[in-house]
Amino acid sequence: METESLKDSLYWLPKEIDYVLRKIRENQQTFDVLVPPAASENQYYKPEENTDWTASFWVGMCFLGKELTGSAEFDTTIENQLQSFKNRLEQEIELETHDIGFLYILSAIADYRVNHHEESKELAVKAADLLMERYSPKAKIIQAWGNLNDPNESGRMIIDCLMNLPLLYFASEVTGEERYKEAAYAHALQTQKYIVRSNYTTYHTYFFDTDTGEALGGKTAQGYSDNSCWARGQAWGIYGFTLSYLYTGDVSFLETAKHLADYFINELPQDKVCYWDLVFNDGSGEERDSSAASIAVCGLLELSKQLPLSDEKHDYYQEIAVEIMAALAKDYTTKSNPKSNGLLLHGVYDKNSDKGVDECMIWGDYYYVEALTRLAISWYSYW
Ligand code: GLY
Repeated sequence: METESLKDSLYWLPKEIDYVLRKIRENQQTFDVLVPPAASENQYYKPEENTDWTASFWVGMCFLGKELTGSAEFDTTIENQLQSFKNRLEQEIELETHDIGFLYILSAIADYRVNHHEESKELAVKAADLLMERYSPKAKIIQAWGNLNDPNESGRMIIDCLMNLPLLYFASEVTGEERYKEAAYAHALQTQKYIVRSNYTTYHTYFFDTDTGEALGGKTAQGYSDNSCWARGQAWGIYGFTLSYLYTGDVSFLETAKHLADYFINELPQDKVCYWDLVFNDGSGEERDSSAASIAVCGLLELSKQLPLSDEKHDYYQEIAVEIMAALAKDYTTKSNPKSNGLLLHGVYDKNSDKGVDECMIWGDYYYVEALTRLAISWYSYW
């Protein structure tokens, strides 16, 4: 953080870090080999096998715990989890998804960056090879979900995928092969062109014809409607476009990230924690999505870091990020429910299918800890 006044506004930070470290330590007993599910039930994560797209957020938190404390106390869990991710890739367990990115960035790449294990670098490249199979050269997009021949999913890209692209950028960096980066860059450009609307709101998903490359149209999956702006999608976009700028140097991505951030900030309610879709605000009676808030904080902090100090938004994005974090720390954590093994209350997974509504989201917890880490130490990204 740059200024004294920003430092002053973080008076709550050390206590909050103590709190999340305590929870991560306690959770190591339950999630040694198993992992937390995507969403809690009654604020409790029931352990499950490593099969969902969300399985890496737990090991990601252990890596952050290791970096925050500089201690070896998380190492055994990290080793067990890495073995599980190695098995998952070898056996291709539930990997017909673009979320191979989330899965292997927070396991293999994080391990390579933190512990410098060559084996993890190789694991990440293997995962990138699998992700590349989902790239359509005609549509220039990575298919999000399901089998490539599934008629309901063929040619569907989603905004979330921006967070999977660093796996491909990483593979190019370590192998020297441009093809991974070219696919990621092309996908980010298609996202910018089709998923971002002219008013800088975003579609959640967008379909293409993979035979002709024709752009067919936007559709929501988890947002309120096809034309609304799903809060988490907008948050993925702020962070994701900033990351694509970082890896490609294409400043148009930075501009897009700024526009998305400005829209997101303008729609925030009084306490700065967004509702699950940005069409909703105070008085709507709808739920918040604290997980979108914590993702947006990480995106805003990374965006601010990438902007020159002279940019008029440089300090502004940091200040808003800190305001959101202060609100989360004050009113949205499980400190009010000590029986919970989650960190952040009041997330929404998928309101449309009544899945994980007003619960802890494991990615919300992860990004909350990442945001605390970003505010506390000079942290290089796993992304
Ligand atoms: N990436 C899936 C979600 O945000 O729910």
